[in-house]
Amino acid sequence: MLDKLMRKKTAMSEGLLSDRIANVKRGQIPAHVAIIMDGNGRWAKQRNLPRIAGHHEGMKTVRKITRIANDLGIEVLTLYAFSTENWKRPKLEIDFLMKLPGEFLSTYLPELIEKNVKVEMIGNVEMLPEHTKKAIRKAMEATKDNDGMTLNFAMNYGSRLELVEALKKIATLVEDGLLQVDDIDDSMISSHLMTAHLPEPDLLIRTSGEVRLSNFMLWQLAYAELSFTSVLWPDFDEACMIHAMEEFQLRHRRFGSVEGEGTI
Ligand code: FPP
Repeated sequence: MLDKLMRKKTAMSEGLLSDRIANVKRGQIPAHVAIIMDGNGRWAKQRNLPRIAGHHEGMKTVRKITRIANDLGIEVLTLYAFSTENWKRPKLEIDFLMKLPGEFLSTYLPELIEKNVKVEMIGNVEMLPEHTKKAIRKAMEATKDNDGMTLNFAMNYGSRLELVEALKKIATLVEDGLLQVDDIDDSMISSHLMTAHLPEPDLLIRTSGEVRLSNFMLWQLAYAELSFTSVLWPDFDEACMIHAMEEFQLRHRRFGSVEGEGTI
């Protein structure tokens, strides 16, 4: 009896979710969604599990959210998987985090290929362990001609470092007489970032109740809508993603102009 009731309840909420998905699809879909996947450690702690169990569960959420993002027609999904500051964590945890791209891609690469998803990465790849680099490069190579959604992992990524590197390249061009100081503008800086080929994020989601950017895409997020949720990343599911989309579609994006211009 209880089982029957549960099944009915699940079917009802799935029915509602599919209605909400259909509704969201009729509205404006953000071209680029960036996510700070936070709360794996707390998720594990709540269950008396080691932190790495939270990261492993978080990897399953990556699959779930990649699927729905692709289904919604999002063009780019950037996931903050490892920051330049994350090297300060215990070695065991770092080693585990470095194995996740390999595990994820060895399991899901065929599905990503089938769904026409293109795997990319931003961050300093050189500092990553050989096996991590190999897994990411293999996936990038295997999907390079795909023209569906871009699944962009930010691995060993830090926004300030990215900006410093960009400014050094621009300064060198000036020093070499190839560029005038007056030629430096917004688009010149954007074109020297690791995201030069991508649209700027329209929506940033951060899970786990933390309300900060943690050195993530500081330049690129200038006009993004921000969505913070207390849900921990391993618990973030399709319904949470749809909620963030619904919230986004209710926002009036003005890009610094007045009401009525540039709204969605
Ligand atoms: C922050 O949570 C999360 C990370 C530093 C790692 C995020 C990585 C994943 C979700 C898996 C990535 C998967 C692939 C395929 C690359 P936290 O550990 O800081 O959580 P806490 O704040 O609760 O301690």
